[in-house]
Amino acid sequence: MTQLSAYATGMTRTNIEEALRSVGKDPSAIEPGDLAALEEFHTLGRLATAQLAHLADIGPNDRVLDAGTGIGGSARFLAVEHGCSVTGVDLTDEYCDTARWINESAGLSDRIAIVQGDITDLPFDAGSFDVVVSQHVQMNVVDKGSLYDEACRVLAPGGRLAMWDITGNADHIGYPVPWATDPADSHVVSGDQLRAAVAGAGFRIEQWNDLTRPTAEMMTAFLSRPASELGLHVFVPDFPAKVANMLRGFAAGYLQVIQALAVRPPDTGSS
Ligand SMILES: C[S@@+](CC[C@H](N)C(=O)[O-])C[C@H]1O[C@@H](n2cnc3c(N)ncnc32)[C@H](O)[C@@H]1O
Repeated sequence: MTQLSAYATGMTRTNIEEALRSVGKDPSAIEPGDLAALEEFHTLGRLATAQLAHLADIGPNDRVLDAGTGIGGSARFLAVEHGCSVTGVDLTDEYCDTARWINESAGLSDRIAIVQGDITDLPFDAGSFDVVVSQHVQMNVVDKGSLYDEACRVLAPGGRLAMWDITGNADHIGYPVPWATDPADSHVVSGDQLRAAVAGAGFRIEQWNDLTRPTAEMMTAFLSRPASELGLHVFVPDFPAKVANMLRGFAAGYLQVIQALAVRPPDTGSS
């Protein structure tokens, strides 16, 4: 699969290094938390990840796969705050390189592995993980059947799939949005279609929470404050325009934010 134009700019690491220096931080000695406002590329950032980790009850003995890890912010949060081992997979080479650099700089390379790959064709054995986390990735994936089949396959029986995602009516989306500069890379489906894809892979859906309204309210309040120097705009081009288009979708009702938890039942799923 080719690299997605919304993410591969060629400047990700350079822009983050410059932003760190501009606030007096050393890019070769990053402290966990230094990048909190920019390292999680999804609505509500760290707050959403903390809620999702709580929902999935992630603990130190869990082997976690972050499917579509981006620059690895959620993987680092889970490793540091929940003590688990994490593997992050991402399609975008420069995001993987940036994630490895930050992990090394933060002293977390021994707890987080970063693998370049496609989440619809994972390079892991069946039953390798206890939890699969995926946040704001499936909107780029046309083959949602393979995505959730693979998540189910790599989970051990009883394993959990924790999702933080955008659903909606693709016909109304105005571009760019945070996950795509144009419709070619955007594969948003309705909540019912996404649920069907997850259930079709063999998962039992335990939670499916539409959090659009509180998310939109919190984002609007957050964006009304002066922008942090270390925000996602540092490495995501046209970030304000992308967020504005997404918020328009939340307000008009053609985009939703969902938080979900699904379980691979002990006696089903491919292996
Ligand atoms: C909006 S970013 C979210 C990154 C991360 N989950 C986070 O929340 O910070 C979407 C990510 O999904 C990755 N991605 C999209 N399609 C993918 C695929 N088929 N396999 C692996 N990664 C993919 C992109 O490279 C990008 O890093």
